[in-house]
Amino acid sequence: MTFDFDTPINRAGTDSQKWQKYAGQDVLPMWVADMDFRSSPAIIAALQRRVEHGVFGYARPVKSTVDAVVEAMEARYGWKIEPSWIVWLPGLVVGLNVTAQAFAEPGDEVLTLSPVYPPFMSAPKNSARISVTVPFVLGRVGWEIDWSALERAVTPKTRLFYLCNPHNPLARVWRRDELVRLGEFCVRHQLILCSDEIHCDLILDPGLPHIPSSVLSPEIAAQTITLMAPSKTYNVPGLGTSIAIIPDQAHRTRFIRATAGIVAEVTSLGFAACEAAYRDSEAWRQALLAYLRGNRDYLLSAIPRELPGIKVEAPVEATYLLWLNVSALGWDNPVARFEAHGVGLSDGVPFGAARGSHVRLNFGCTRATLQEAIRRMKAALATH
Ligand SMILES: Cc1ncc(COP(=O)(O)O)c(C=O)c1O
Repeated sequence: MTFDFDTPINRAGTDSQKWQKYAGQDVLPMWVADMDFRSSPAIIAALQRRVEHGVFGYARPVKSTVDAVVEAMEARYGWKIEPSWIVWLPGLVVGLNVTAQAFAEPGDEVLTLSPVYPPFMSAPKNSARISVTVPFVLGRVGWEIDWSALERAVTPKTRLFYLCNPHNPLARVWRRDELVRLGEFCVRHQLILCSDEIHCDLILDPGLPHIPSSVLSPEIAAQTITLMAPSKTYNVPGLGTSIAIIPDQAHRTRFIRATAGIVAEVTSLGFAACEAAYRDSEAWRQALLAYLRGNRDYLLSAIPRELPGIKVEAPVEATYLLWLNVSALGWDNPVARFEAHGVGLSDGVPFGAARGSHVRLNFGCTRATLQEAIRRMKAALATH
């Protein structure tokens, strides 16, 4: 079966956040992290079947949905999980917030590495916890963890460490030795490791494995809350279906208690999509990865040629998000400059970048859209 990622789907006038931002303007939206592709045919068919049933009462996952998750974890990462470890959530950002509330007190510190997806820094602050960030460093082969700065950042008030693997926005896949070192760091300092692995099925480099933090050792697993979802990979974030996988029973109880009465249930449609994603969509996912790899390779060759002054600083190993260094342009507000030329990017500042230094480009779109975006960005540079 072949899958078509080239035919554009018109999202204008729909409930799309990404497209509503520039409604009525000729701006290509390349900001928030969803893709302009239809979900897999298996997901669409499962949703149609569920809609046809016509009754949408309060939902609980059926066994086949839980089995699909359990089997995917084992088949993809060799991770044997128990169904009882799964806590269903309407979103991963919910999971980040619940983790902060469950495992830290007001005034306690939550460590993470920056730049990073903004809710890693805002979630602790939402409930009067303190976010502490340690900047990545750019080494010879790419983004690296500054291990001594990380050690220095730990205080008696540090309770939690948020990891993003693969990393948004740096598109980095953490290697086993790095993950073991991070896991041991958390064990040594008695920190809960909250491992956001939402992009784990979007590794673009064939042969580069995703390693869940919880497979590293029983000690690390006992302190780890893993957050995952079919949302990014299968383009169903609007269906609000995610999971926390928590092997340790006491931690799981504490996490669930923090959700009580304030976290909404996952919906019938979300469960249907999740099952079809994990069980029936592998061929589609492989085709998607091939297409995204093509988009990435196009960008990596077009940017140095067409957009002098814009730099891709490190290998792009995963995700459909490209972190671009635009500091050489000397623009105070690069997003506004590119918007004025019809391209809507994410500003690097909320991710922890310096003003004017970085933007993020979402390449989860047709190749033709990407080519047009490069043409428009080139025109923006010509006004420089
Ligand atoms: C690392 C990371 N975590 C979480 C999310 C959002 O998750 P959700 O929509 O399930 O809250 C994103 C979305 O871009 C993300 O990149």
